[in-house]
Formats: sequence, C-alpha cells, structure tokens
Amino acid sequence: MTTYAVTGATGKLGRLVLDEMLEKVSPGDIVALARDPAALSDYAMKGVQVRQADYDDPASLDAALKGVDRVLLISGNAVGQRGRQHGNVIEAAKKNGVSYLAYTSILNARNSRLALAPEHKETEEILEKAGINHDVLRMPWYSDNYVGGLAPAIEQGAIYGAAGNGRFSTASRADLAAGAAAALVNGQGGDIYELAGDQSWTMDDFAAEVSKHSGKPVKYVNQSEADFAKTLEGAGLPPPIAAMLASTSYLAGHGELYNDERQLSRLSGRPTTPIGESIRQALG
Ligand SMILES: NC(=O)c1ccc[n+]([C@@H]2O[C@H](COP(=O)([O-])OP(=O)(O)OC[C@H]3O[C@@H](n4cnc5c(N)ncnc54)[C@H](OP(=O)(O)O)[C@@H]3O)[C@@H](O)[C@H]2O)c1
Repeated sequence: MTTYAVTGATGKLGRLVLDEMLEKVSPGDIVALARDPAALSDYAMKGVQVRQADYDDPASLDAALKGVDRVLLISGNAVGQRGRQHGNVIEAAKKNGVSYLAYTSILNARNSRLALAPEHKETEEILEKAGINHDVLRMPWYSDNYVGGLAPAIEQGAIYGAAGNGRFSTASRADLAAGAAAALVNGQGGDIYELAGDQSWTMDDFAAEVSKHSGKPVKYVNQSEADFAKTLEGAGLPPPIAAMLASTSYLAGHGELYNDERQLSRLSGRPTTPIGESIRQALG
C-alpha cells in the first residue's frame, strides 16, 4: 500500500487535487494536510485521512507525514515566508523517509524575472540539497486568475494590462490539479516540468473571447506598467499588489509567462482547457 499526502489541501488547488486523487487511489491512502482539519470534514467523510499540519510548525509536519510514502507540496501563500516554510515540509519529509516529493513551483523558476519567482527557486534549491527523490511542477498563472470577476470589464467594454502582444500560456487550476495528481501517483523523480497550457493567448485574444462569450464589445487597452498599476489601485487593489500585478503583466509582455512545450497535457493525459472555454464557464 502506498500513502499519498497533499499539503495545502484546504486551498483551491489542493481540493481539486484531492478530487483527482479520489479517482485514482483509495480514499484511505490519501493524507490531506490542513492547518484546520475541520475545513476538510467533507473529505474526511469520504474516507480521506485529514491531519493537522502548519508549515510554520515543524513538529506538526513531522507527525503528519508519519507513514507517508509520497508527498505533493503545494506552495503556501505567505509571500516572504515560503522558503523557510517549504524547507520545514521538506525536512519533515526527509525525516520520515518519504520516497517521492513533487513541488508546485513557477514557470521557468531559475531564470524568471517575476517577483514571485525567487521563493520558488529557493525551494527548488532546498529540495535538491535535501537529496529527496523529487519532481518540480512549475506552474503558469492560473487561467482562473483572469476569468474571475469579468463583470466590470464587460460593463466598461475594456480590459486593461501592460502586456502588449505578449503571449500567456495559462492553465486552469483543474488542469494543473490533474497534472499534479498524475505526478503524485506516477512521478519517478528527476523531472522539472514546465506545466503550461496547450494554447497561449495575447490580451487582444483574451478580449476577443470575452466579447464573444459575453455578447458585448470588449477591447484590450494596453498601458505602461506604471499606468496599469494606477488603474489597479483605482479598482481598489492595495499598492503593493497592484505593483506586483502590473510588473507581472509587463513581464508577460516580454515572455515570462510563455511556454509552448505542452508538458501539462502530456503529464495529465488530457488536453488543457482553452482560455475561451474558461471564459465561457466563468460567465456561466
Ligand atoms: N499560479 C497561479 O496563478 C497562482 C495563483 C495564486 C497562488 N498560487 C500559488 O499556488 C498555491 C496554491 O494555489 P491555491 O489557488 O490553491 O491557493 P489558496 O487557495 O490560497 O491555498 C493556499 C493553501 O496554502 C495553505 N497554507 C498557507 N499557509 C500555510 C501554512 N502556514 N501551513 C499550512 N498550510 C498553509 C492554505 O491553508 P489554509 O486553508 O489554512 O489557509 C491553503 O490550503 C498558492 O498557495 C500559491 O503559492 C499560484
């Protein structure tokens, strides 16, 4: 019997991974790690083992990974703390003799200029030094980030960004969860996957798909990075988040979110969801 642990299991990606795992292995072989186990009572009812663990609490991680063979480490969301937190998980995995670990990193982590990349790069390096058999699952931006909350853009007839004609190789969380579950069950170790969606798109393509599925004319308005940050602040985002998103958009315009290797569909065994379909689903 093999036991599979999923960290960050209460999150949006984690829950989708649990759903995929339930299709592949017995519920009792799945260990879902949660800061608050009550948040996963629906999965406990299905027979999943839910164990308490906090990335900040090495003793809890050590206890939660007892008897676990394979681990999916889903990156946390406490930006600035994650190198140390992920290191705690890796240390606990090592202590417990885990035979395989997959980590959700970011596209092109070693060379990416995106502000969020350094902590992923740091985690990849910790993993290498730890000497645990592992695969790196480098993830693009979720399509979900773009298709949620389209109503104001449709009303204004405009979508703003700083990406110019840059191409985005996003993938839906659901497709990434399928890839992550496939790695958790079958990954051999030694691979660095760049898990981009099969088709890439520009912001003009995106606006055209929004127009098509909403039935309202929506155009893409390209701004400088500074102006886009102001637009985001005007929409209510805190300045540091606005700056980070504007920088990401600008860098996407220079290829930082592009990858055409189609590794995600090969790993998951199914084609990825085109952005137009994600938009259609989001607009109901
Ligand atoms: N590619 C992208 O576009 C993108 C976008 C957003 C995030 N991400 C990254 O991908 C990860 C998964 O995405 P998501 O959409 O599932 O994010 P999410 O819904 O915010 O889930 C984050 C998960 O991390 C857990 N977590 C945070 N701090 C923790 C700690 N100290 N100890 C244990 N667990 C902790 C959360 O647990 P609680 O339920 O206890 O809070 C939650 O389960 C994110 O955490 C982030 O690193 C990627």
